Amino acid sequence: MDKSYKQSFKVVGRDFIHAGRVATEIKMILKQLGLNSDIVRRIAIASFEAEMNVVMYAKKSVFNLEVSPKEIKIISEDEGPGIPDIELAMKEGYSTATSEMREMGFGAGMGLPNIKKNADVFNITSEVGKGTKFEIIVYIN
Ligand SMILES: Nc1ncnc2c1ncn2[C@@H]1O[C@H](COP(=O)(O)OP(=O)(O)OP(=O)(O)O)[C@@H](O)[C@H]1O
Ligand SMILES: [Mg+2]
Repeated sequence: MDKSYKQSFKVVGRDFIHAGRVATEIKMILKQLGLNSDIVRRIAIASFEAEMNVVMYAKKSVFNLEVSPKEIKIISEDEGPGIPDIELAMKEGYSTATSEMREMGFGAGMGLPNIKKNADVFNITSEVGKGTKFEIIVYIN
């Protein structure tokens, strides 16, 4: 199979029932494309954390997956409150999760640092009151 692929996925804020589904689907697609398991694992972790953040903090998003022979790219553009201080949000342990989210096991403040660790490129841009854009790239070679 040639390793080029494009697909969009909707992620809905507050939908904890379906949370994680997009990351699982992306993982399955990459496996089917025959990508190596380390790359699949890194993208699966990064996309799961990005998806959970949309579910927890934003209203909705579209995830665009783009696979080329060179790289795997995921772009999420959400509608939501935005992130007022990105540098602070990137710090390990920083979280604005509610007690309800913490009871579900989220809110360690490790999602964004984990994305950074697993991605070759991780860019965040955000506009308060509008939304947040994540760009995650993992190089294939
Ligand atoms: N898409 C987003 N929209 C608005 N705020 C966000 C978004 N993603 C992250 N944040 C903010 O950045 C903080 C840090 O995110 P991070 O993923 O590192 O931790 P967390 O989601 O709070 O906890 P964990 O990921 O460990 O369950 C969040 O608590 C939230 O305030
Ligand atoms: Mg998170």
